[in-house]
Amino acid sequence: MNVKMDSLPWHFFILFLHILLSTVSSSACSLENKQALLQFKSSVIRDPASASFSGDQSWNSSSVCCSWEGVRCRNQLVTELHLTNVFTGYNTKALSNLFLIKSLTLLNASSSFLHGEIPANNLSSLSKLEYLDLSSNHINGSIPDQLFSLPNLKHLSLQSNRLSASSNASSHGFIDSRLEYLDLSFNNFNGPIPFQVYNLTNLKYLALSGTHLSGSLRSNIGSLLRLEILNLEDNSLHGSLPPEIGKLQKLRILLLSSNNFSGEIPNSISNLTQLKKLDISYNNLFSVIPESIGELRNISDILLNQNNLTGGIPMSMQELSKLESLDLNGNSLSGYIPTILFELNRLKILNLAGNSLSWNSTAKISPTCLFSELYLKSCRIIGEIPRWLSGQKDLQNLDLSNNMLSGEIPSWFAELRIQSIILSDNKLTGKLPPSLFESQILSFLDLSINMLEGELPKNIGNASSLEGLLLSSNSFHGPLPESMSNLLYIWMLDLSYNNISGNILHSLIPGLNYLDLSSNNFSGQLPVELTSMDSLKVLELHDNRLTGELPVSFSKISCLQVLNVRNNNIGGLIPASLAELSKLWFIDLSHNKLTGEIPTELGDLPYLQYTHSNESYFSDYFLSGQSEYYNQHLIIDWKGSVIDVTGSRANLFMTLDLSNNQLSGGIPASLGNLRALKSLHLSFNELTGGIPAELGRLENIESMFLSNNKLTGEIPQTFVELRELTTLDLSNNKLVGQIPTGGQMSAMTDPSSYVNNSDLCGFQIGVQCKSVSPSGGLQGSSNTGDEGDEWLSWEATAVGYSVGFFLAIGIAYFIGIFHPKSRQ
Ligand SMILES: *[C@@H]1O[C@H](CO)[C@@H](O)[C@H](O)[C@H]1NC(C)=O
Ligand SMILES: *[C@@H]1O[C@H](CO)[C@@H](O)[C@H](O)[C@H]1NC(C)=O
Ligand SMILES: *[C@@H]1O[C@H](CO)[C@@H](O)[C@H](O)[C@H]1NC(C)=O
Ligand SMILES: *[C@@H]1O[C@H](CO)[C@@H](O)[C@H](O)[C@H]1NC(C)=O
Ligand SMILES: *[C@@H]1O[C@H](CO)[C@@H](O)[C@H](O)[C@H]1NC(C)=O
Ligand SMILES: *[C@@H]1O[C@H](CO)[C@@H](O)[C@H](O)[C@H]1NC(C)=O
Ligand SMILES: *[C@@H]1O[C@H](CO)[C@@H](O)[C@H](O)[C@H]1NC(C)=O
Ligand SMILES: *[C@@H]1O[C@H](CO)[C@@H](O)[C@H](O)[C@H]1NC(C)=O
Ligand SMILES: *[C@@H]1O[C@H](CO)[C@@H](O)[C@H](O)[C@H]1NC(C)=O
Ligand SMILES: *[C@@H]1O[C@H](CO)[C@@H](O)[C@H](O)[C@H]1NC(C)=O
Ligand SMILES: *[C@@H]1O[C@H](CO)[C@@H](O)[C@H](O)[C@H]1NC(C)=O
Ligand SMILES: *[C@@H]1O[C@H](CO)[C@@H](O)[C@H](O)[C@H]1NC(C)=O
Repeated sequence: MNVKMDSLPWHFFILFLHILLSTVSSSACSLENKQALLQFKSSVIRDPASASFSGDQSWNSSSVCCSWEGVRCRNQLVTELHLTNVFTGYNTKALSNLFLIKSLTLLNASSSFLHGEIPANNLSSLSKLEYLDLSSNHINGSIPDQLFSLPNLKHLSLQSNRLSASSNASSHGFIDSRLEYLDLSFNNFNGPIPFQVYNLTNLKYLALSGTHLSGSLRSNIGSLLRLEILNLEDNSLHGSLPPEIGKLQKLRILLLSSNNFSGEIPNSISNLTQLKKLDISYNNLFSVIPESIGELRNISDILLNQNNLTGGIPMSMQELSKLESLDLNGNSLSGYIPTILFELNRLKILNLAGNSLSWNSTAKISPTCLFSELYLKSCRIIGEIPRWLSGQKDLQNLDLSNNMLSGEIPSWFAELRIQSIILSDNKLTGKLPPSLFESQILSFLDLSINMLEGELPKNIGNASSLEGLLLSSNSFHGPLPESMSNLLYIWMLDLSYNNISGNILHSLIPGLNYLDLSSNNFSGQLPVELTSMDSLKVLELHDNRLTGELPVSFSKISCLQVLNVRNNNIGGLIPASLAELSKLWFIDLSHNKLTGEIPTELGDLPYLQYTHSNESYFSDYFLSGQSEYYNQHLIIDWKGSVIDVTGSRANLFMTLDLSNNQLSGGIPASLGNLRALKSLHLSFNELTGGIPAELGRLENIESMFLSNNKLTGEIPQTFVELRELTTLDLSNNKLVGQIPTGGQMSAMTDPSSYVNNSDLCGFQIGVQCKSVSPSGGLQGSSNTGDEGDEWLSWEATAVGYSVGFFLAIGIAYFIGIFHPKSRQ
């Protein structure tokens, strides 16, 4: 006993010393580990792609390796390596040195600009590895099967790389895998879901989104019984959803959106009692929403939008007492909108837009939920704006557009704290309640296409948060309120198709991106203040009574893309400085009183000089809007029709229209540089001289109107190069000689395109040329060939008629991006 008592302090001392040493010298690590780390470092440094080594100073052979940046040890063995901020930009080969550290439990080299393939060498020695994160690098090649054989690996993150599908060599490693977390999203597995995945039965988290997967989701998914989160979004998976999904009873989040799944939502989904979020939006589901959906008592988000679901909204949904958001937008649902939806206490976001639903807004309902977002666009709602909305104190976004709402805009709207109100395309009458504009929260108001009338309220400028105001196609009259210029945050103002009069000065707010005042009664001179609007991208002033001249300093509006002042009384010269607007691609100055010559400089318009085939236009169009639609779409007025020219569709509408003015002089040869141009209109002017042969370089031109001028000489032979030409009008000039044959010119056989000229001939108009014209433009007389052959062959050529432009407009019509703006 005594002996023990005596020796105890010693034991304590030794123990204490041991603890002290292992703490103080925790920075010591085994020689083997140190060598592996140094070899890793030297192969990183040797890599020519290696960029910066913020932490490598500490990785130095004369210091102890457990103190190096990113290195963690336990019992003098390296266990964790956090390399993200230590080394960047090296080949993954270097990692194989680290694979020799058998004690490693964690390796994190995410976001490190790694390139190359994951080395399979020595990988299987990592028997203690639990956590591997190589996400957000540039790793390519396939995933070595050895990774899945690591007996302790639980967490594997390889998302955002360039990996392709795992080799098929062996799958038995997967069977014993302990993997619980697998994120392979944003890689390049072109092909089916790797079959090995179905054997990873310990998985709780599986993410394969954005990996270019195709094929179907196999019923084996039902063997992943521990799965809590499954994310297969953004692939090309097709086929129906296997009923075995219902076996995954621990599932909390199921994300299948943006695939091509078809068929029905399996009834077995009712087994997923833990499910909180279900997203199958953007697929091809048809059939009805199963009644069994009412069993998902724990669900808070259901997103089934953009499918083709039919039938009614199931009554069983009244059981979903935890539902917070329901998006059924863009399906083919029918029947009445059931009252039960308004009695789901927690529902905040409801989107039923774009179905075949209907609703009588006078139906007596007293919602027990407080919506924050309510979208009932195109729900065939009849009646007045429902009174119960006045109790919706949390409402931020309201869209009731494209319905049959009648009556006046209630003044209690102003008491709500709504940010975005969209009531366009209804039958609303009466005046704009001034109280609406006392809101300091309202940022987007769209009341277009209604039957509203009266003057714009004087206090419009009090709505200090307003970013978008769209009042087009109503019957507003009177002048612009002075206070309008107080709307400092406004980027979109559309007052088109009303009867507003007076001058436009108060609408010239410097921050505007989009200003549409067209088809009103505005008069007075174009104010010079116009040129201080340096954010303006679209300026639509057509069909008014504006006078004055285009300011010489127009070039200050440097972002301008669309300029339309058609049908006003604008005189003076066309400012040559227009050509400095580097983004301008739509110019309509027609039906005015412009005089002088067409500036040669217009041929320098930068944007129209090159074909922008795959460019996406205006993706950055409006940055801060409330309404997604207006955020992403650019709408222009093209010859009286409203057209959405978002994306590369803008290519179809590249226009220069100077017709119906009093322009004189010749057509500048420089216009031949505008190779992106689709239509050129110079008709009804007093242009003289010949048609420049250079116009034959307009390789994208589809319509060209030069009629009703005083043009002389021959039609240039170069016109046979205009491969896209579908419409040509040269009538009412003084042209002579043979109409060129060949290319699309052989298809331009409408005689009215050539009437009232001096002496034209050619098979197109059925007038035989008396003698073969010796001057054939740039092409010489190569096309003069055998007249008889031409007479026979022109009809055959016409079959090859290019229909690009009008076909595009036709399609636009069908897919609904093309609709008349005025109600009349
Ligand atoms: C290694 O680090 C120590 C102290 O941090 C320093 O004194 C020494 O110069 C370094 N050696 C090299 C080769 O960088
Ligand atoms: C791995 O590194 C990434 C990026 O630095 C970080 O977000 C993540 O939390 C790290 N993981 C662990 C377990 O430290
Ligand atoms: C590591 O891999 C290399 C190359 O395959 C091999 O020569 C070496 O023996 C391996 N080292 C260990 C410790 O497994
Ligand atoms: C991986 O990328 C490198 C270039 O970074 C390339 O040489 C190699 O062939 C690629 N490997 C695979 C399997 O694609
Ligand atoms: C792996 O794929 C190749 C060709 O893709 C095939 O020849 C081979 O039989 C496959 N191996 C296994 C084990 O499936
Ligand atoms: C592994 O997956 C394959 C195909 O998915 C399946 O046939 C096999 O039964 C699975 N093996 C185990 C042990 O789960
Ligand atoms: C759903 O759950 C029931 C009872 O728990 C079970 O009998 C049935 O097989 C499950 N359905 C599916 C498709 O897993
Ligand atoms: C989706 O399916 C439809 C018809 O089933 C097909 O036309 C379409 O090409 C498919 N899309 C993809 C991306 O697989
Ligand atoms: C909802 O989830 C909780 C906990 O996740 C669970 O205890 C409960 O049984 C679930 N409710 C239903 C109706 O299954
Ligand atoms: C949607 O389903 C209906 C009825 O099944 C069908 O007539 C229609 O063509 C489908 N629409 C689309 C876009 O697939
Ligand atoms: C709409 O509902 C009201 C009140 O319930 C009723 O009087 C009216 O007839 C209904 N209108 C239509 C078209 O069903
Ligand atoms: C609102 O506008 C009116 C008229 O412009 C002005 O007299 C009034 O002071 C404004 N109210 C507020 C709160 O700014």
